[in-house]
Amino acid sequence: MAILKIARMGHPILRRPADDVVDPTAPEIRKLVEDMVETMEDAPGTGLAAPQVHVPLRVVVFFVSPQRAAREAELDGSAGDSAVLEGVPLSVLINPVIEPLSRETTLGWEGCLSVPGLTGEVPRHSAIRYRALDLEGQEIVREARGFHARVVQHECDHLDGVLYPQRMTDLSKLMFTSELHHLSDG
Ligand code: NI
Repeated sequence: MAILKIARMGHPILRRPADDVVDPTAPEIRKLVEDMVETMEDAPGTGLAAPQVHVPLRVVVFFVSPQRAAREAELDGSAGDSAVLEGVPLSVLINPVIEPLSRETTLGWEGCLSVPGLTGEVPRHSAIRYRALDLEGQEIVREARGFHARVVQHECDHLDGVLYPQRMTDLSKLMFTSELHHLSDG
């Protein structure tokens, strides 16, 4: 296992579309995923996409603890929806594809290990269905709402060379994380 170097905004690897993984069961893909998980946990981060560690392949890892899910649901007003409170176990998505389930979007704050120190308010589809392969080559099909849906959309954007500031509709909501407390100061 190894902690990998994270590419930061401006590096060309973050702008190019990543390539499909030909064989999800290949040993080098398992090794990549192990290193990505270690890197994500060390950072720490909620998710990581392979281009962020200089590997142009369609691989994503993410994890949402129940505590984090509950906190985010409180913030985006979806806490009444018990399914979003459960969190998501450590997940590996290979060649993921997203399908929005409605036109509705939700605003929420995002950060990114490739955009250190900053946070921004980003609109995302409120509900999605996604498909991917796991390390055994088995298909994963999940429906996601709330923060789970947000994380998957953020990470899959990395596979298409898109960073969250490009999804923002109001750049006055791009700020340093250390200044975020001013929002609640009123
Ligand atoms: Ni990111």
